[in-house]
Amino acid sequence: MNRLIIKDLEVSVEDKKILKGINLEINKGEIHALIGPNGHGKSTLLNVIMGHPRYIVDAGSITYNDEDLLSFSVDNRSKKGIFLAMQHPLEISGVKNIDFLKSAINSRLDKPVSLYKFIKEVETASEEVGFDSNLIHRNLNEGFSGGEKKRNEILQMKLLNPSLALIDEIDSGLDVDGLNMVSNALNNSKNEEFSALIISHYSKLYKEVKPTHVHIIVDGRIVTSGDYSLIERVDKEGYSWVEKEYGVSISKKEDKPRVVLGTCAVKESIGNGNN
Ligand SMILES: Nc1ncnc2c1ncn2[C@@H]1O[C@H](COP(=O)(O)OP(=O)(O)O)[C@@H](O)[C@H]1O
Ligand SMILES: [Mg+2]
Repeated sequence: MNRLIIKDLEVSVEDKKILKGINLEINKGEIHALIGPNGHGKSTLLNVIMGHPRYIVDAGSITYNDEDLLSFSVDNRSKKGIFLAMQHPLEISGVKNIDFLKSAINSRLDKPVSLYKFIKEVETASEEVGFDSNLIHRNLNEGFSGGEKKRNEILQMKLLNPSLALIDEIDSGLDVDGLNMVSNALNNSKNEEFSALIISHYSKLYKEVKPTHVHIIVDGRIVTSGDYSLIERVDKEGYSWVEKEYGVSISKKEDKPRVVLGTCAVKESIGNGNN
């Protein structure tokens, strides 16, 4: 069935209310885009779905296939088929990438995967995401370039084969080839059982992946939802029309710049000390 339902979700970080009543439903086969200016709660929403302990759920519910997702640990959420490609993947010293991948795969199986099958799967997935094979034997993300980290996230997604992929700015830090790799990997993952919630500031990724649903989040609320045409409008006009039409304020958020789809959000963010 693969259905995520979020109802009236309110979330705080360090006593600051970030999400102020999110309602969202994602059904199997659907690709949802989550867009909005920086600092308005996009990553927070993805982190909460995955179970990041720093985010406190004050109210509301998240269910996946009618089960209370909030009652599950992060690894159990992962075993239920949920996967998060992080905006800022962590470097973990002392854990080899290949051991991490094998443990993650085995934790889903009753019997450990055969070494032969595992190596074959890693080779195939590495090729698909353009991942240099020596990176497989290095410590997890340690010293990886921004692009290599992002490729590693997609490699994990390919190997874990989630039913719901949460993709947080995977394309920031990627060159054109990397961006094509991501859109191909996502498009190749599309099937009736696969759904995704994708955050990006680039219209190019959305142009390739073609979300079925689009949501604009401002100040911790989804102010409007629609189809792909919402992305085209934001790409052309920025977010000022959202402020006018929905009576919300974008600029008050920590003076963060308004980032228009299609511009280099990473560069702008770095320049302003945001993330
Ligand atoms: N771990 C955290 N500690 C403190 N504040 C946080 C943390 N994570 C997010 N925030 C704050 O929550 C707000 C929303 O952040 P985020 O969800 O990352 O926004 P977006 O992904 O839309 O740019 C920002 O004001 C940010 O500073
Ligand atoms: Mg973010």
